[in-house]
Amino acid sequence: MKVECDIKDVFEVTYSKLWREGLLLASVGLDGKYNAMAIGWGLIGRVWRDPIFMVAVRPTRYTHRLIEEINEFTVNVPGDGMEEIVNYCGTVSGRDYDKFKEVGLTAEKGKRVKSPIISECIAHYECKVIGKSKVIPDLLSSEVKRRYYLSENYHTLYFGRILSTIIEK
Ligand SMILES: Cc1cc2nc3c(=O)[nH]c(=O)nc-3n(C[C@H](O)[C@H](O)[C@H](O)COP(=O)(O)O)c2cc1C
Repeated sequence: MKVECDIKDVFEVTYSKLWREGLLLASVGLDGKYNAMAIGWGLIGRVWRDPIFMVAVRPTRYTHRLIEEINEFTVNVPGDGMEEIVNYCGTVSGRDYDKFKEVGLTAEKGKRVKSPIISECIAHYECKVIGKSKVIPDLLSSEVKRRYYLSENYHTLYFGRILSTIIEK
């Protein structure tokens, strides 16, 4: 059963998964089609007096288009044993595949956003984008540029106000 919880209840498991196999960002387009993408970069914190989940999405991702369309997303924390699913969602694009169908993920209606939460995951954040920023090449160290941006494709940083945190009980 999914129940709303305090952010402190999901913080630790979120960070530990972020540093290992990654998390799943779920979104939906104006056409109603769901998508899930693996994320390995993200921050949880406080900005503009709000609890914020900041995600970094490259413009080439299909997910980028969906977030631009609806200004919201969910972040889902995979349970143990979901490594291959995360890897799949981080390898193929929703432009070409229905990833939910391909790997048997269940899209559950979000409580406060149109984007789905992923039933099989163990914790969830529902987020509304209240700000965004481009990574500015001139402000990066040459090391970061060399390691992560040889093909440019500079991330957009989306600041999602956390509207609810949900845990599987
Ligand atoms: C573990 C892992 C973490 C990833 N983290 C990110 C990330 O934080 N930002 C990003 O833009 N792409 C990231 N990617 C790559 C995307 O998940 C990948 O390009 C995906 O196929 C995009 O899906 P989409 O086109 O359906 O949006 C990651 C991939 C993996 C496997």
